[in-house]
Amino acid sequence: MITIKSEREIELMRKAGMLVSLTHKYLKPYIKEGITTKELDRLAEDYIVENGGFPTCKGYEGYPCALCTSVNDTVVHGIPDDYKLKNGDIITIDMVIGYKGYQGDAAWTYKVGSIDSEKEYLMKHTELALYEGIKMVKPGNRIGDISYAVEKYAKEHNLGIVRELCGHGIGANMHEAPDVPNFGKKGTGPRLKEGMIICIEPMLTYGSEDIYILDDEWTVKTLDKSPAAHYEHTVLVTKDGYEILTPRLD
Ligand code: MF3
Ligand code: CO
Repeated sequence: MITIKSEREIELMRKAGMLVSLTHKYLKPYIKEGITTKELDRLAEDYIVENGGFPTCKGYEGYPCALCTSVNDTVVHGIPDDYKLKNGDIITIDMVIGYKGYQGDAAWTYKVGSIDSEKEYLMKHTELALYEGIKMVKPGNRIGDISYAVEKYAKEHNLGIVRELCGHGIGANMHEAPDVPNFGKKGTGPRLKEGMIICIEPMLTYGSEDIYILDDEWTVKTLDKSPAAHYEHTVLVTKDGYEILTPRLD
């Protein structure tokens, strides 16, 4: 069942989303050569807790950390560890934060120092693919309209779509109905209604679409070792369009 949020719930979702945005902004200056992903995770968890939030990923189905830190050929769910970021890396920081029982979820990919033109291209067009999807959000449109728009943009830009993972509804739980795939047909799937809240999150690669999962059972990597990017926003369906609840503050 896809829930419709009340005014009160929407207000709490806005606060959860804003805390996600603020945490991203807080982390950005630390994303430099030499810092470990574990240090980023510690900074994030402390900041989240100091600001009245809850790091929802930590403990979720046994996941050990507040952040997912996915470097280069890691698509999603990279576990923070002792890896030191180096010049030329890209890293996706993905986080879910609970605030008074409601969740916000956003990911974006950052560059470390100066990166090659392929990674620049991948980052730019993965973020734009997300906005192509978001533009389809309004009452009466369907989930398939979002999926189709993301797929069309990714294909036009020759980027691979990781199909095994998708966006989702969100509310008191980080994953709620409906699924929001990054490929699909226009005019299909559930209809959007005012008060629904969904996460749209294209995961695109500069190469093949094939992935594998490490023995840690979380880390998702591209099979051909090509770099991957991932951008995600939590989005409210409004009366005549959408509101991004996790705005970029940088
Ligand atoms: N943002 C991720 C998602 O949309 C968070 C899940 S990571 C987990 O699914 F560790 F919490 F599972
Ligand atoms: Co998500």
